[in-house]
Amino acid sequence: MADAGVASRRACEDLIRAGAVEVNGSVVIELPAWVDPQKDRISVEGRPLPKPERQLYLMLNKPTRTLTSAADEPGSDRRTVLDLVDHPAKARLFPVGRLDYDTVGLVLLTNDGDLANRLTHPRYGAPKTYKVVVKGSLDEDAASEIERGIYLAERKAGRTVGAARTAHIELSVLRRERDSTTLELTLREGRNRQVRRMLAAVGFPVKSLERTGIGPLRLKGVARGAWRELTAAEIKGLRRAAASASGDQEFRTDTPPKKKKAPDKAKNPSKRSTGSKRGRQQAEEELAPTQLSRKAVKNAAHGRPNPNKPARGGDG
Ligand code: URA
Repeated sequence: MADAGVASRRACEDLIRAGAVEVNGSVVIELPAWVDPQKDRISVEGRPLPKPERQLYLMLNKPTRTLTSAADEPGSDRRTVLDLVDHPAKARLFPVGRLDYDTVGLVLLTNDGDLANRLTHPRYGAPKTYKVVVKGSLDEDAASEIERGIYLAERKAGRTVGAARTAHIELSVLRRERDSTTLELTLREGRNRQVRRMLAAVGFPVKSLERTGIGPLRLKGVARGAWRELTAAEIKGLRRAAASASGDQEFRTDTPPKKKKAPDKAKNPSKRSTGSKRGRQQAEEELAPTQLSRKAVKNAAHGRPNPNKPARGGDG
């Protein structure tokens, strides 16, 4: 619903809980509610939801001197990552996260707002991996200072509002030369120009910066300035990373569970899965009464019992 432009994700959830959403003619008020937007008929307050665009996931190998935003500021006309992608589906793609104008490498482009939000979640976002060449021979002290975290200024609306220590960073030295060092860094946060500022703070300015990974996704099979679609395995890996990054067990990592007729618990208690966590979760989802009639929604709104549910309370 959010991707179709109905409202923000949170407001869409409120609309569902309020009984404003129907799927194939039945009101759905419980979350998560599995639907196939291509096949199911969804309506919000009686108005049908338009069929969404096909979800696309592209890997772009960003060249230098390119903006990672959909458009430049008014009055400037610099190249953007979207200028480099001409996908035949003409979908409304956007970049997931940002790279500096001069940073090169992996940019993920998609029209899947849910996945993008989870991958860039400020607290749990997926780790990003960078290959960095710095000026000088980076010593052990500087390396462990970076790993432990250093204080970087925090800015809001163009003003410094304090300083915060960077979260733990994994660092390995890939190559040492007389006047430069090549490093691999993995960061779990994405503060503004973080890699450049951290390395400058310990006295080793960045000569070149390339992003090589986002979560499990690796930059490969695509030349600088070119793009390709992700493989099914790459998309699945990203969805898994996004689910665990946001700590959300309800986020779909592949295809939704098949709709099965819920077994009658009272008559057939042994049918309930007791196996893996995922199996148990799926069984709970299958048993959950996710679809209620209009009458039940109205009753719930007026505090009356749902005739389809046994009343709770008492000792037995
Ligand atoms: N850190 C930076 O300093 N720049 C980038 O583009 C990405 C991470």
